Amino acid sequence: MRRSPQSLRMDRRLLILTVGLFLLITVLVVLTAGSAGAAPSFQEVSNDTCLSCHSQPDLSRTLPSGEIWSLFVDESHFGEAVHGQEEIACVECHERNAVFPHPEFVVADLRGVSLQLYQTCQKCHAEQYSSVLDSVHQRAFAAGNFEAAVCTDCHNPHTQKRLTDETTGDILPEARLHIPETCARCHNAIYETYHESIHGAALTDEDNRDVPTCIDCHGVHDIQDPGTAQFRNDTPLLCARCHTDPAVMDKYGLSTDVYDTYVTDFHGTTVALFEKVHPDLPTNKAVCTDCHGIHDIKSVNDPEVGIALKENLLIKCQRCHPDATVNFPDSWMSHYIASPIKHPLVYYVNLFYKIFIPAVLGGMTVYVLTDVYRRFIARGKGEAH
Ligand code: HEC
Ligand code: HEC
Ligand code: HEC
Ligand code: HEC
Ligand code: HEC
Ligand code: HEC
Ligand code: HEC
Ligand code: HEC
Ligand code: HEC
Repeated sequence: MRRSPQSLRMDRRLLILTVGLFLLITVLVVLTAGSAGAAPSFQEVSNDTCLSCHSQPDLSRTLPSGEIWSLFVDESHFGEAVHGQEEIACVECHERNAVFPHPEFVVADLRGVSLQLYQTCQKCHAEQYSSVLDSVHQRAFAAGNFEAAVCTDCHNPHTQKRLTDETTGDILPEARLHIPETCARCHNAIYETYHESIHGAALTDEDNRDVPTCIDCHGVHDIQDPGTAQFRNDTPLLCARCHTDPAVMDKYGLSTDVYDTYVTDFHGTTVALFEKVHPDLPTNKAVCTDCHGIHDIKSVNDPEVGIALKENLLIKCQRCHPDATVNFPDSWMSHYIASPIKHPLVYYVNLFYKIFIPAVLGGMTVYVLTDVYRRFIARGKGEAH
């Protein structure tokens, strides 16, 4: 069947209409995409623009809480900071401030400022951000303690200097010295105690880099609850990391046997065994910190509290052995392997057994052998005659 010229004309009109529509849409799409590309991207607001207002020292805002929020940013400090050095633009962290006047920023108090603005860190530091999610601070925060540390409590984004070596990733020596101060902002009592301890004094007074700072024992972004059973049971291993390393301990003339001797004594043996059987229960036996202290560890020879002195040690034992009297600590060999000087009695008893038992057993064997010879072999020879 042939189509009428009329219907053919209709088809052509439809075709032109469709093609036209298609072209129109294409042009529109290209145009909108093009115009989006042409709009100033937030990347293009220079730091100088921001600083033209924010370098004024008196720029500030009074918050509903009555606190005065200074909006001054010190350009020279920013320039020396890691983000300035890395040429991170202000707007990369403050996207919403790319327009002026800025959209309204609703906030009640200074703490609220930090809690809103620190969220920007996750854009570039996803690893640290997710690690913090699993920390004691984040859990305290989730439970409603808004004083728990967030990124900006420990790192001021405008002034933070580089912390790690760019090539090795190791923490820089000067950064290490200041770590306890970071924690001191909120854990001041512990900081003061630590500062007086043998570890803390060596760090803060002598720039000693071998001693532990807060984060060697607690971790950094993923700090865990130190009150758990696992933390307690693992304490000896924590201390052993350094105290069994001759490269470190030889410098201070300290014994590297403290862990081994601990594990072989009755407390250590039971803790080690206990840990294997009940990793989820805290041991009731002594771990390193029960005798030496935690944040207040002192030299064992400290004239006032040193536990090389029997009276001082006794106080520690009495916590768990309430009936212990002055000679009780003698029942324990401390970290010593018995020798003629330290614990001579134990040493000579050991030595006695070491000689006596082989001697007795050896004598018995010789006796039995000679007896066997006499009875069987010699008699056998006699019968053959
Ligand atoms: C024309 C002056 C001006 C410029 C340019 C300017 N700011 Fe601001 N900024 C202000 C003022 C004024 C406030 C206080 C606003 C208020 O009181 O609500 C402010 C507040 C802020 C705040 C506090 C939070 C907020 O949004 O109120 C931040 C962060 C900020 N500016 C960052 C920037 C950044 C980043 C730039 C550059 C991209 C910039 N500003 C450019 C004047 C300026
Ligand atoms: C690495 C991200 C980052 C960069 C880069 C950065 N800021 Fe900030 N800025 C923040 C955070 C986070 C806060 C909130 C700090 C707090 O807890 O009070 C802040 C706070 C501010 C404030 C409020 C005042 C204050 O200190 O609390 C102003 C104003 C501001 N920034 C402006 C700037 C300007 C201008 C630049 C560039 C010279 C810049 N910022 C660069 C992250 C950044
Ligand atoms: C736009 C990306 C960006 C944002 C957002 C950002 N940073 Fe950074 N930050 C960097 C870069 C790049 C470095 C350089 C270090 C590196 O090589 O990884 C750096 C370095 C650091 C360092 C030193 C790291 C070291 O190894 O010495 C700290 C600490 C830090 N940032 C904290 C923060 C905090 C806290 C925030 C949120 C307020 C933040 N940063 C937001 C990009 C960013
Ligand atoms: C309780 C304090 C504290 C908090 C909270 C904290 N940091 Fe850190 N951070 C430190 C210390 C101390 C170091 C240096 C030790 C190190 O590098 O191992 C560090 C190191 C870093 C580094 C250097 C690289 C690395 O992982 O060692 C980056 C980047 C960093 N922090 C970013 C962040 C970000 C982003 C947040 C928030 C999600 C955050 N920090 C929260 C204390 C903190
Ligand atoms: C901004 C304040 C702040 C800073 C800075 C801070 N903390 Fe905390 N920290 C808290 C708060 C708040 C808690 C929760 C206290 C609680 O629940 O009793 C907490 C809890 C802890 C706990 C668990 C305590 C417990 O009893 O379970 C440890 C461990 C800890 N912080 C270590 C550190 C270390 C190490 C640093 C430094 C790298 C540090 N904190 C820096 C505020 C801070
Ligand atoms: C030599 C290892 C070591 C160092 C260094 C250390 N801690 Fe601890 N910390 C511990 C141990 C072990 C516990 C668990 C104590 C217990 O059994 O309850 C603890 C407990 C804590 C607690 C929770 C219990 C409490 O007493 O409130 C906080 C908070 C804490 N430490 C913060 C810090 C801070 C801040 C620093 C640095 C100034 C620091 N620690 C240095 C080993 C250490
Ligand atoms: C039951 C108590 C007790 C326990 C548990 C204990 N110690 Fe000791 N520690 C002592 C006494 C007491 C001394 C002092 C010995 C002396 O000089 O007479 C000492 C001495 C030391 C010394 C000094 C060594 C030297 O060369 O002068 C170090 C370091 C030490 N202990 C670390 C540890 C570590 C690490 C642990 C856990 C693995 C631990 N201690 C467990 C009681 C204990
Ligand atoms: C990061 C390494 C490191 C860790 C972890 C560490 N220590 Fe130490 N400790 C040292 C160094 C280094 C010294 C020597 C400091 C000095 O004499 O200036 C020392 C000194 C001591 C002393 C004093 C010994 C004496 O009488 O002179 C005792 C006791 C001690 N540590 C116990 C502990 C206990 C217990 C733990 C675990 C809770 C522990 N240490 C964890 C490095 C460490
Ligand atoms: C944290 C608690 C704790 C501290 C501190 C402690 N002990 Fe013990 N000790 C125990 C427990 C629990 C046992 C039981 C072990 C078992 O039965 O396996 C034990 C067992 C002993 C035994 C074996 C004989 C017995 O009574 O069962 C001696 C000896 C001993 N402790 C000496 C000491 C001395 C000396 C000190 C101080 C330097 C000390 N202890 C500090 C908890 C502690």
